[in-house]
Order: sequence, then C-alpha cells, then structure tokens
Amino acid sequence: MWNKNFLTQKLHIEYPIIQAGMAGGITTPELVAAVSNAGGMGILGAGYMTPEAIQTSVRKIRNLTDKPFGVNLFIPNDDVDSDVVSQMKEHLQNIGPFGEETAQVKYENNFSEQFARQLEIVLGEKVPVFSFTFGVLGKKETEQLKQQGIFVIGTATTVEEASQLEKSNVDAIVVQGFEAGGHRGTFLRPYESSLIGTMALVPQVVDKVCIPVIASGGIMDGRGIVASLALGASAVQMGTAFLSSHESGAHPKYKQVVLQSQDTDTVMTNVFSGKPARGIRNAFIKSMQNYKEDIPPYPIQNALTRPMRNWAVRESNSEYMSLWAGQAASLSSETTAFDIVLQLVKGTENILKSLR
Ligand SMILES: Cc1cc2nc3c(=O)[nH]c(=O)nc-3n(C[C@H](O)[C@H](O)[C@H](O)COP(=O)(O)O)c2cc1C
Repeated sequence: MWNKNFLTQKLHIEYPIIQAGMAGGITTPELVAAVSNAGGMGILGAGYMTPEAIQTSVRKIRNLTDKPFGVNLFIPNDDVDSDVVSQMKEHLQNIGPFGEETAQVKYENNFSEQFARQLEIVLGEKVPVFSFTFGVLGKKETEQLKQQGIFVIGTATTVEEASQLEKSNVDAIVVQGFEAGGHRGTFLRPYESSLIGTMALVPQVVDKVCIPVIASGGIMDGRGIVASLALGASAVQMGTAFLSSHESGAHPKYKQVVLQSQDTDTVMTNVFSGKPARGIRNAFIKSMQNYKEDIPPYPIQNALTRPMRNWAVRESNSEYMSLWAGQAASLSSETTAFDIVLQLVKGTENILKSLR
C-alpha cells in the first residue's frame, strides 16, 4: 500500500499528502480542514498571526474536522538591525498612495517574545502537529511539545540542516527543494549555497537521517508524489498546488496569475521581506533592481512593504502583491481542496498501475 507507512501511522492520516502551512491568510481554517477531511493533512500557516487569531483559527478548524491538522510557525531571529531603513521607506513611498503608512512603520526586535506567545497557544490547544521553518527549535520547547503528545516537524534545505534538526529531536523533516514556492527555510549557510533541487536533496537526506523525510518543492500531482516516494520520502508537502483552491485565502488576482503562469515565471527574491523567497515576477520586483544593496533584512523589510502589499490587495493590483509560487505553478487547477486531494490520490494510483 503506497499510502501507508510509519509516518502516516504516526500522524493518523490516510494519505501521505500534506498541505503546507502558508502564512499570510492563504491557509484558511476551511482549507486546512478540507485537506484533512479528504485524508491528507492541512497545516495552518500561522507565522504572521497573533496568538489570539491562532487560537480562533485552531478552534474553527476543530469545528470543521475531527481529523489531524498542524500549525506552522517561524523560528525568530532577534539579531537584526539595519541602517538602510529610511532610504527604503523613501523608495516605497514613491510607488503608491500608502506613503504615510509606510513612513510610520515601526518594528520592534521582540520576535522571540511573539514566538513564545504563539507557541503557548499551540501547546495550550494541544494541536496534533507543529511544524516550523527558518531554524531549529530550542530543546526546552521541543520537550514541552512532545510532552503534550504534539508531533514536531522541522524544515531543512541541506543535508547539514536536516542532521541538525534530527539532533534537536524533531519527529520528521520537511526537505525543501530549490523549486519550492515561498520563503527559503535555510538557516545554517548563505541561501546561495543552499539551493538544492528536490530530486537531488531528498535521497541525500534520506540516506543521512533515521527519521521520516517529507519531500517538498515543485510537487503538483501524482507524478511528483510517486517520484518523491521513490526517492525515499515518507510523504509530500505541497504549497502551490493548494493556492488556487476554492478554500484558499489567496486574492483572486493572485490565483489568476498562478493559474496563467509558465515554467519560467518565478524568481528568487528578497525584495518583499528581506529573506529570499520564490514568487512570480512582477512590477515591484523589477522596480527594486537598483536597490538590491539597500534591502533591510527580514523581518524589517517585510514590515516596511506591508502597507504596499495591503494597498495592492485593496486595489486588486497583482503587480505589488507577493505572489509566492513554486516552479511548477502552471500545473495548478482551480477546484476544491477536497477534489485536489482526490485527484492527487487517483493520479498516484494510476501512475503506480502503469509502472507495474
Ligand atoms: C504562498 C506560499 C506561502 C508559504 N508560506 C510558508 C510558511 O508560512 N511556512 C512554511 O514552513 N513554508 C511556507 N511555504 C513553503 C512550503 O512549506 C513548501 O516548502 C513549498 O510550498 C513547496 O513547494 P511548492 O510550492 O512548489 O509545493 C510557503 C509556500 C507558498 C507557495
């Protein structure tokens, strides 16, 4: 049975198909619950959410499904400072009518504090699965989660990161290939030296670690699932494939751009947040060509561009939205999340039959 293994048993899920937590309102409670109800596992992307909003969403998910689901957070890095903020504010103010809001953006280096409060909700609500990206979780926090019976998943973009996560006692590792949409989870080395494709990275991590590996990056259908399982992964994690689902909170314009995209349309950029991420090229990315040296680090740049991104959503202007998407975005389809999981299962089974 292709769909049953140690990981699916531990997670109590029918199919080794995980919908990635996608911060920024994409992974609505409806999306998370629909994927879990279809036999996969949905994850709430809670990186940017307040503790109160996380609690409300978790409770909503529980009203919509009695199946397992996860919450995803960002490991904080308080060690950020920048002297290029005023220059960046000036540039952003020239783009559109959100200058005053941009000028007033303040950020505090209290990310660890925020993270601790977010994690308290995860612990208090005893969510079945907790996943994280951008680093390694502290020993104390990992132990606290495990004491509550919470399954812990880290994110790696290299073999070295996967080994470090295994040592930190996580239960499984998401291996994020170069193709992946959204932010790079890289935390040990410069991102330029951590850009390894899913096909190359998954078997190398599988050979190195003794815990289950979850393949992610560019997986959009049964072909990608069969390939991932053949490489030794125990499951797949898919983000872009669920972006254009009916339940996704992505802006309709964003969904449209994803559905009409081509293989060459994505680019790795740090202009929206200060951290490299893969998204579909648009006017804002182009306009930042001359400011490459002046981009403050994450999460400062993320805070500075928030007024612009909110404005773009209000104006339905996809040229100034962060259009995170993976390299295989053109394989997306517009249907319900339940149907996407169903198609993934059918597709996987058809390919397995044809290989016999
Ligand atoms: C819109 C979008 C937002 C994302 N946000 C997160 C996030 O909040 N946390 C996280 O761990 N990964 C995030 N990711 C990355 C996914 O976990 C995963 O690595 C990626 O979606 C896999 O590649 P694919 O998009 O080609 O399926 C995001 C991806 C996308 C497309």
